[in-house]
Amino acid sequence: MPELKWWQKAVFYQIYPRSFADASGDGIGDLEGIRRQLDYLQDLGIEAIWLCPHYPSPLVDWGYDVADYTDVAPEYGTLADFQRLLDEAHRRNIRVILDLVLNHTSDQHPWFQESRSSRDNPKRDWYIWRDGKDSGPPNNWYSVFGGSAWEYDPRTGQYYYHFFFKEQPDLNWRNPEVKRAMFDVVRFWLDRGVDGFRLDAVGTIFEDPMLPDQRAPIRYPEWLKAWHSASDEAERERLWRIRQEMFRYQEDLPEVHDLMQELRALVDTYGDIVLVGETEDLAYYGHGNDELHLVFNFPLMKAPRLTPAVVRANQQERLGGMPSGAWPCNTMGNHDFSRVLSRYGDGQHDMEIARIAAALMLTLRGTPFLYYGEEIGMRDLILTDLAQFKDPLGRWWYQVERELFGTPHEEAVIRGARFGRDKCRTPMQWSPAPNAGFCPPGVQPWLPVHPNYMEGVNVADQLEDAWSLLSFYRRLIHLRQRTPALVAGDYLPLAEDSEEALVFLRALPPNGPACLVAMNMSDRPIRVVTGLRKWGRCMFSTHRPERREEDLRELRLAPFEITIMELKENS
Ligand code: GLC
Repeated sequence: MPELKWWQKAVFYQIYPRSFADASGDGIGDLEGIRRQLDYLQDLGIEAIWLCPHYPSPLVDWGYDVADYTDVAPEYGTLADFQRLLDEAHRRNIRVILDLVLNHTSDQHPWFQESRSSRDNPKRDWYIWRDGKDSGPPNNWYSVFGGSAWEYDPRTGQYYYHFFFKEQPDLNWRNPEVKRAMFDVVRFWLDRGVDGFRLDAVGTIFEDPMLPDQRAPIRYPEWLKAWHSASDEAERERLWRIRQEMFRYQEDLPEVHDLMQELRALVDTYGDIVLVGETEDLAYYGHGNDELHLVFNFPLMKAPRLTPAVVRANQQERLGGMPSGAWPCNTMGNHDFSRVLSRYGDGQHDMEIARIAAALMLTLRGTPFLYYGEEIGMRDLILTDLAQFKDPLGRWWYQVERELFGTPHEEAVIRGARFGRDKCRTPMQWSPAPNAGFCPPGVQPWLPVHPNYMEGVNVADQLEDAWSLLSFYRRLIHLRQRTPALVAGDYLPLAEDSEEALVFLRALPPNGPACLVAMNMSDRPIRVVTGLRKWGRCMFSTHRPERREEDLRELRLAPFEITIMELKENS
């Protein structure tokens, strides 16, 4: 294997701590619960964990509203529990990265409490305070979570800025004291041994200090409605341009790149630390070695349909657009987005489609990030009772549907549930036992468990079944680990005009080992001409016998077949 960093080789596993495993028996996941599942993760082949926020928080945004950056939420455990988890993960060769929320704090954070207390408080300028205009907010910017981006605070008669919920005031990163305090937070965790950070909402850290009005032609709720019902690519592109106009003064300002360089310089003093940004913007790679190590390939995750043409275009754009030295990063889902089977499942070939999504993530060039539960095929749970909604975004959208669009109550609840993010944050399904083994029987989990845990969508049942989705993930992750070409090889597309098959090589230059990856993404048997004058030996397949050797010039693939061949040297 060529010299690669650990974060280029590892498969990452994203854990939403509230929903992973409840050791204390209160219906809420915790650090000890995670610790007890490290064997499971190790056996799956996971070598790094991304832990969603574990900090004390009033939980308006379920942890993304941080009230103390250097502690652990009491319901998740203590700093000692954290250290134990970290040490035991390290002992198993599993790294741990934390979620770092730089853009905003909770309104309950002592910094904001001070800031809001008076206009001349020393921390006033740690947040973004402005006078109103014409008896309204300072400008017409939106919060991405609905309504104005400005909240009036009667105590001091000014507005503060919040890109997300009003309980998440934005920090003023133009103030050097803010940077100092946050860099201290970074050091605090690095000193404890964490291996990196996922940078939350990294594009939103700076906004235009002149506060110019945006000039989008429609209002945000209407935009959202149109976006969610847009059916064709042209319409989506048109709407995307409108969104960019709407938020142009609030996102991806050039200043953020200077900050990323400083942060990179800081973490580099600690060795092989990784920074992964919650952004798809390739500009955050900087020159390939001076900003973020990884940015997510969200365009692949957000593709409305997975077709060979979509994937090929995606790879061309991403790999072609990256600076040299930069490393890609693929994911198919996270805690903000619908689960794979709920998006791509067609009701007939769901398992086949889930396998295709997994194979894409694990065989395309780049570090894979696996969202908890995808490995067993968990699905969205659409809550039908408004009282069960935990994510305020779902409640907000319910209100918008009722008030702005006149949608009847029942339909508005469903739409709110689909819009909100509770659907993809339900408890991990460990077994067919009550509460899916997430928490003890008789205890109410913080969000309902998806009832399909009784129908085989759980770890225990799938571990016993060699043909389960979990076994598929496990086999493929292990194959990846022992196949340098699959980790480090270049991506070279083949059969580029095939509408059904995605075929590509992963090859180590020059003339090093290579693999051919072939996926039939259709429900028909096909024949695909690769033009490759080589013989291959089957390493992994949903349909072919392993170790069989064959001429690769032309392949016959069964419906949804996934096959990986090792190219034979000198053939
Ligand atoms: C990111 C997180 C999301 C959160 C938001 C505000 O987008 O992924 O869950 O609500 O930032 O912190």
